[in-house]
Amino acid sequence: MNSASQIIEQSSQKFVVNQESKEGRIIVKQSLNLCGQVELSGAKNAVLVIIASLLLTEGKSILTNVPHSDDVIQMIALMEELGAQVFFDTIQKKVEIDTRLITRFKVSSLLMKKMRASVLVMGPLLARFARAEIALPGGCLIGTRPINFHLKNFEKMGVSFTVEGETIIGSTVQLRAGSFVLEYPSVGATENILMAATLTPGITRIINAALEPEVVDLIAVLTKMGAKITVLAPAIIEIEGVALLKPIEHQIMFDRLEAGALLAVAAITGGSIYLPQASTHNLDVFLLKLQEMGHIVESGEGGKGIRLIATKTPRAVSFVTSPYPGFPTDLQAPMMALQCLAAGMSEVHETVFENRFLHVRELQKMGAQITINGDRATITGVENLYGTSVIATDIRGSCALVIAGLAAQGTTTMTGMHHWKRAYDHFENKLAALGAHISVLKNG
Ligand code: EPZ
Repeated sequence: MNSASQIIEQSSQKFVVNQESKEGRIIVKQSLNLCGQVELSGAKNAVLVIIASLLLTEGKSILTNVPHSDDVIQMIALMEELGAQVFFDTIQKKVEIDTRLITRFKVSSLLMKKMRASVLVMGPLLARFARAEIALPGGCLIGTRPINFHLKNFEKMGVSFTVEGETIIGSTVQLRAGSFVLEYPSVGATENILMAATLTPGITRIINAALEPEVVDLIAVLTKMGAKITVLAPAIIEIEGVALLKPIEHQIMFDRLEAGALLAVAAITGGSIYLPQASTHNLDVFLLKLQEMGHIVESGEGGKGIRLIATKTPRAVSFVTSPYPGFPTDLQAPMMALQCLAAGMSEVHETVFENRFLHVRELQKMGAQITINGDRATITGVENLYGTSVIATDIRGSCALVIAGLAAQGTTTMTGMHHWKRAYDHFENKLAALGAHISVLKNG
């Protein structure tokens, strides 16, 4: 007999499912022993900031290995709103961006709400136009996602901010170089200050900077443009401002987070996978944890190319997320899915975002034994998960639910497709090529 609260919850869930099922849904049937070789796409968290960085130049740049995902489409729309001319060859995965006609420095709230990464145009706009008008970026379900570290350091660089409604207007007579300490190695704040400093006369140092591989790919692009950047141990980025930066050609780095998700797919289904473009140095702690579970993980010369052969008796492992080179927060949800079916108990400690356990409720619906205590989740491995209707709550949560659905008995239906489409370039096709029974139903 369902209690009243269960009936209310189920009906509210149905309502949410009906609302979100308009976007379509993913149907995943149990698919064990997935095996094969997979080509990676370009990294979402590199390409978005690199597209924004092109605002620092005047001319036509070419980016290759660009993933055809919704976030890339949004970032392109943002550049066009500023006046850039963009051509995206989605078959060749190549983007041409001409920034010579950019005259605007205002980003609409509609675009800001759709994608937080839009805040990354602030640094380049301030450097090029000494002005930037952006709507307050939306938080999202994984956290409030403030931008105080960005704004505080831009003020120290000589930017004055005013707020008009939902729009933050930053302006400066001249950006000032200096030493800026980040109290937390924020990826976005590092990237924004770094980009602004490239055209700021003098020496700028970012202390306690984020040095994720995606930040390093941005540094490679800025250096190609003519920026003078030095990375100093342990986590200092030193920039000597130059007068002009030129257009570039660049191949976006392969997506280490897609690689991690694919390794998790092979691991949870008891199969094997080879990722020729993956690099171990981007994923060291994640790979260590897979090995501690009993999976065989090998790599080629110089860490290029990763192969995983799954164990049929995975052991539970605990892990804590932290800035690079620690365990990536963006692989926390996929790794949690693996722990649900591993023998023993594991503890997941999420230290980067304050609310990044929204996928737990959905995994529990599938039969996972998980309890949450603040920023820690304790998972007790079970024999089986069971397919059911689940709702994706964020990009990486959507990935975790599909990974769990591949191992679960029966069929899993996932709504909340906009999350899934934001980060990945038709990831479901890659899973199907491995033998997964997966399909995307569009529009309801
Ligand atoms: C980037 O977000 C990534 N997004 C995130 O990936 C990733 O999870 C995150 O870095 C951490 O690695 C892109 O690169 C587009 P942060 P970002 O600034 O820059 C707090 C995904 O799924 N903070 O390093 O927004 C913040 O709230 C996404 O691909 C402040 O308090 O992350 C968070 O708790 C999710 N004030 C922590 O720092 C600030 O001004 C880390 O945030 C900025 C951040």
